[in-house]
Amino acid sequence: MRILSGVQPSGALHLGNYFGMMQSAIALQNQGEAFYFIADYHAMTTVSDPKLLQSNIHEIALGFLACGLDPEKAVFFRQSAVPEVHELAWMLSTVTPMGLLERCHSFKDKIARGFSPSHGLFAYPVLMAADILLYQANRVPVGKDQKQHLEVTRDIALKFNEQYGEVFVIPEPDIREAVATVPGLDGQKMSKSYQNTLELFSEAKPFSKKVMGIKTDSTPVEAPKPTEGSTLLALSRLVAKPEEYQEYESSFRAGGKGYGDLKKALLVQLERFLVPFQEEYQKLKSDPKKVNEILHEGGVKARSVAQKTLEKARIAVGI
Ligand code: TYM
Repeated sequence: MRILSGVQPSGALHLGNYFGMMQSAIALQNQGEAFYFIADYHAMTTVSDPKLLQSNIHEIALGFLACGLDPEKAVFFRQSAVPEVHELAWMLSTVTPMGLLERCHSFKDKIARGFSPSHGLFAYPVLMAADILLYQANRVPVGKDQKQHLEVTRDIALKFNEQYGEVFVIPEPDIREAVATVPGLDGQKMSKSYQNTLELFSEAKPFSKKVMGIKTDSTPVEAPKPTEGSTLLALSRLVAKPEEYQEYESSFRAGGKGYGDLKKALLVQLERFLVPFQEEYQKLKSDPKKVNEILHEGGVKARSVAQKTLEKARIAVGI
């Protein structure tokens, strides 16, 4: 089984990335041939500062490794180490109906939030399809927000195979329903572009300020707190031990504790969960050469797999 996923270097890694994708990707590296990459070409649709893009790429690499990606087990690389992806994206674009891309929520959403509607942003899902099909991936661990992009990938692959013969494996999305969407500080989906994220590797002070600023309702201290739709509970469920979560939830039902205290308790749970990753991150940070070597070696391996698929596609289309 081949597993593949990617993350854009458009900002710092956050809890949404970890629970939506990285945690399952890291677990799956023991179950098959894993390919994980930093989607730097994709990030160009929203990051136009070259220095920022470079430092984001490095940070994502450090972070993914610190969380447990094992380069002995998984091929870890930059998307741009495999420029073949663009040739395949072009081939795929010739079988992609415009309507399929016009319906993509993420494009419409970005436009609504003021990004200029570039061709790159519009064609984003085709490049993503190329990322996946180039490695003949069977399983793609992603958060729920990527579901539609996976459907587009499957549609494009089926269309291509129908027209040119069985070239591509049809990939399956792997979405953990329990954590399909991690909420951010304001209760909406946690996302770099909503500025509501809790980063995995931030300084203690700004982190605790953010946790203390999580949006809650105005239920008085003594009254029971609503559990349905609570961001505090949703985050606690991800990071606390099951008994600890049960106790935390009971304190909502019982009343008598204000949101300030409930947030402090969540802060302790979050910090404890993140400490091992942060320690690993500091170790890796002192050896930037090693991180670059890992990405370089991963790029070489990924490219040799990609070239085989591309050759197959070239023959199929008659080029
Ligand atoms: P990106 O960089 O936005 O996010 C990386 C992964 O994190 C997941 N995620 C979340 N999951 C649950 N709750 C959240 N609040 C949350 N926020 C982010 C995303 O679903 C994603 O799995 N288009 C992709 C990158 C990409 C890719 C690919 C992924 C490019 N090519 C090929 C898979 C396969 C993206 O923008 O992810």
